Amino acid sequence: MAHRPYIVGNWKMNGSRAALAEARAIDRGAQRYKDVSVALAPPFPLLGLLREEVTTIGVGGQDCHTAAKGAHTGDVSAAMLADIGADFVIVGHSERRRDHGETDALVQAKAQAALVSGLGVIVCVGETLAERDTGQAEAVVAAQIDGSLPDDAAAHDAALLGRLSVAYEPVWAIGTGRVAAVDDVVAMHAAIGARLAARFGDAAAKMRILYGGSVNGDNAAALLAAPGVRGALVGGASLTADAFLPIVAAASSGEG
Ligand code: 13P
Repeated sequence: MAHRPYIVGNWKMNGSRAALAEARAIDRGAQRYKDVSVALAPPFPLLGLLREEVTTIGVGGQDCHTAAKGAHTGDVSAAMLADIGADFVIVGHSERRRDHGETDALVQAKAQAALVSGLGVIVCVGETLAERDTGQAEAVVAAQIDGSLPDDAAAHDAALLGRLSVAYEPVWAIGTGRVAAVDDVVAMHAAIGARLAARFGDAAAKMRILYGGSVNGDNAAALLAAPGVRGALVGGASLTADAFLPIVAAASSGEG
């Protein structure tokens, strides 16, 4: 089952209680595609509510603190996410690296904390346009992989269980409508896969590498059919069932 494609909607800082109706519709729709793993990561205030509304899809957070509890005003721990029934957490999204100055070392510590709490983890990496234009994309992403992925015994166990995933999200493709060329995605996923194999050995084969950046119902089939692409991390097109379910359908073999 580790090879089931993984389609994750990242709602970012969007959605109110009214959006729970979309989550319910996504959950109902996902039941038609049993060969696809579908999940949503809503903002924290909706997480517990959304968890209660869905039965089929996974539910996750968009960030967590490195500590389990304590004096960290405004933060949320991985243990708290696990306690309200979250299945996973996204760490190291480029918007957090940008808005909150998150470093590779901090992202790695967050991922470790999440694994300790029993959550699956999606670690995000991706280059800026300037880095791509100057030929540094693969080097930048390799450094992010080396610095942001956890490397302790728990990480190796999680990798083997398919609970540790990487999302390749070129920063210039996020929210811009400018999707990366399939050839470039294939090349980067291969480079990431090689990097993961160097660290995790055979377990790397169980780790899903997702593509993210302007994925929608029109481009999903081509991206998801590309070698090495094991799923998608979707922003804008995950906010409604009408936009998100065609992406889930594109990931399905059609056998339901
Ligand atoms: P968009 O799909 O809106 O480009 O966002 C991608 C993303 O950042 C998902 O985490």
